[in-house]
Amino acid sequence: MLDLLSPAQQDPILSLSLAYRDDPREHKMDLGIGVYRDSHGQTPIMQAVKAAQQSLAQSQQTKAYVGLAGNENFNQAMVDLLLKGTDAYDRCAAVQTPGASGALRMLADLMNLAKPVTTVWLTDPSYVNHKPVMEAAGLTVKFYPYFNRDTKMVDTDAMLNALSQAGADDVVLLHGCCHNPTGADISLKEWEAITELANRNGFTPFVDIAYQGFGDGVEEDARGLRILADNVEEMLIATSCSKSFGLYRERTGAAIVVGKSAKEAQNAKGRILQLARSTYTMPPDHGAAIVETILTDDALTKQWRDEIEAMNTRINALREGLTAALRDRTGDGYFDFIQHHRGMFSVLGLTGEQVATLRDKHGVYAVGDSRINIAGLAERHIDRLADALVDVTR
Ligand code: LMR
Repeated sequence: MLDLLSPAQQDPILSLSLAYRDDPREHKMDLGIGVYRDSHGQTPIMQAVKAAQQSLAQSQQTKAYVGLAGNENFNQAMVDLLLKGTDAYDRCAAVQTPGASGALRMLADLMNLAKPVTTVWLTDPSYVNHKPVMEAAGLTVKFYPYFNRDTKMVDTDAMLNALSQAGADDVVLLHGCCHNPTGADISLKEWEAITELANRNGFTPFVDIAYQGFGDGVEEDARGLRILADNVEEMLIATSCSKSFGLYRERTGAAIVVGKSAKEAQNAKGRILQLARSTYTMPPDHGAAIVETILTDDALTKQWRDEIEAMNTRINALREGLTAALRDRTGDGYFDFIQHHRGMFSVLGLTGEQVATLRDKHGVYAVGDSRINIAGLAERHIDRLADALVDVTR
């Protein structure tokens, strides 16, 4: 049987990490996978997370099963973080999942269960795992115009024009903030326009919010999602603690469904639990227990918010530093979009050949579509990166 299998295609992001690891050059720079690194190149454990871990080590009495929905206090905390104060707050339900990829898959399976004819519309381009996850769940995938490759910002007219064609059998996936891969975010005006289209044409919005706090702030980054939550009857949300809490390897996320009524949302939750049972049964506990500990303690919550704000401020300073270094070298504002982008990533608009030269000649690892991880950049490497970018583009 196994001899029937053709070889697996490599994941463009995870395979890059392996190639970087095996590169013997000392000056190599990993701007591939989306992890935050401090100025020493480390991905630190947040102090609030350390404190929560210590407290859990003392207080936790058992490792017995938790339940299909995972940690319900964590689920409530995720709902509070995103939806508190919105119209959707009392008609939503949440399930803890193994990371946001787990949430994407559970929600995709749910869509297939509810309406197998569903087409999921993704931004062009989108997170590399969106299409595989949706297709693995049996859904049809379509891309809508999003990124203007000339301005490197959102192509608002093309996007809204395409979305005006989406109808009742469609689900439109939106990035809550910090668009992956481009870094180009939609404005609040555009969130409002999409909300209006959803209500007029009947498509279901699906928000993937995996970088809350890395754009303009924890509250600011949820504003677009909250416009939808105040105005639409149904929506789906996949959220992650990988980046916001630095819990990457703990696989901590949640799937949230907003229904017309609390009863409908609870029913959908029940179906997700059934799907989870036949997939992974229960999510891993540790990360969710940490997040619960932080978000149910005022002092730890404040510490976490302060830490994430410091990371956010640093990322935006790195954006400004890189933009200025490029301006100095080019004498023009061609790369100014870098400082207007938000979150970890920016797509630079380089060709595949230029990305390969960056890697082979300069030791700079960017994802194939020329996505660089600004949050992986050290201040002391800004000049070298700017030199390399000028070398491959001019
Ligand atoms: C990324 O886009 O680099 C991260 O979200 C990691 C992943 O799962 O691909």
